[in-house]
Amino acid sequence: MRAFLPFAAAAAVLCATAAARTHETNPFGSAEDFAVGKRLYRVNCGVCHGMEGKTGRGARLARKVHRRANTDAEMFDLIEKGVPGTDMPGLWLGEDDIWKILLFVRTFEKTAEEPCAAAPGDAAQGKDIFFNRAACAACHTVGMGGGRLGPDMSFAGASFSREQLRVALVEPHRDVAERYRVGRVETQDGKKREGVVMAENGYSLFLMDRSEETLGFQKAELKSFQISRESLMPSYAGVLSAADMDHLLAYLCSLRGSEKGAAQ
Ligand code: HEC
Ligand code: HEC
Repeated sequence: MRAFLPFAAAAAVLCATAAARTHETNPFGSAEDFAVGKRLYRVNCGVCHGMEGKTGRGARLARKVHRRANTDAEMFDLIEKGVPGTDMPGLWLGEDDIWKILLFVRTFEKTAEEPCAAAPGDAAQGKDIFFNRAACAACHTVGMGGGRLGPDMSFAGASFSREQLRVALVEPHRDVAERYRVGRVETQDGKKREGVVMAENGYSLFLMDRSEETLGFQKAELKSFQISRESLMPSYAGVLSAADMDHLLAYLCSLRGSEKGAAQ
């Protein structure tokens, strides 16, 4: 064993800030652990992910399939290390605390647990509505093609129930994640621009407009700016007929990942 010592010492230094994970699956599960996890979630995560995992500056956690992590081990590592380059911080929590928080986080997924019902409706017609008639693809990607203003829809059917999708279409402003806030600015020469807020600090503001151009502004040089929680997505209530809504929902429910069907 002695031969491994230098390596072990180096590894210890590298891992000094990390809560080393000693399990592949969550070793906790009692009601007491759950209560601790819930409290820790409120204190450490709720501010960004919302108390029900639906809103805020963070990703929506109330979904069946997450974008970045799904197994216990993946979720642990993500919560421990954060997502570099985003607001998701690497936290200072110990191993046991992270596992207990994960117990609570898993309950959000249950709220999205009903399978996305493909019927009624015809997915082929829904696809035509998505790409052509309603031009959803101007803002949303499915597989390789589409816009980047709104979230990727490639996993819509694996992530959401049919009812969640319906609500997203008829009440887009109901819970807009912080990531999709809309900025509206007026420049000194009276030009008005709007777009999704990509980055903001005390001095500057970066927006992505509808043509996916990134616009940068110095706040001090603007006549005015405003950031709102209204979605850039229009409401489709009363815009799509009931039959078209069914077709569109049938199509969205059929989206379960890449062509290879890797969603599960
Ligand atoms: C300061 C805000 C902030 C805090 C605090 C925060 N998060 Fe996040 N979290 C984010 C953001 C932003 C993302 C999305 C990152 C990205 O772009 O993928 C995210 C992503 C995630 C994801 C991945 C979701 C997916 O779809 O893959 C999980 C899981 C998660 N957070 C759990 C937690 C937990 C648990 C806590 C508390 C221990 C926490 N977060 C604290 C902002 C935060
Ligand atoms: C102008 C751009 C735009 C158009 C057009 C648009 N969306 Fe969106 N969509 C967004 C943005 C931005 C969000 C994220 C903010 C929010 O939740 O409203 C969103 C959110 C969603 C969500 C919720 C996803 C989640 O992760 O919570 C669904 C589902 C959705 N859109 C489907 C559609 C469908 C179907 C169409 C066409 C009928 C469409 N969108 C048209 C921009 C758009």
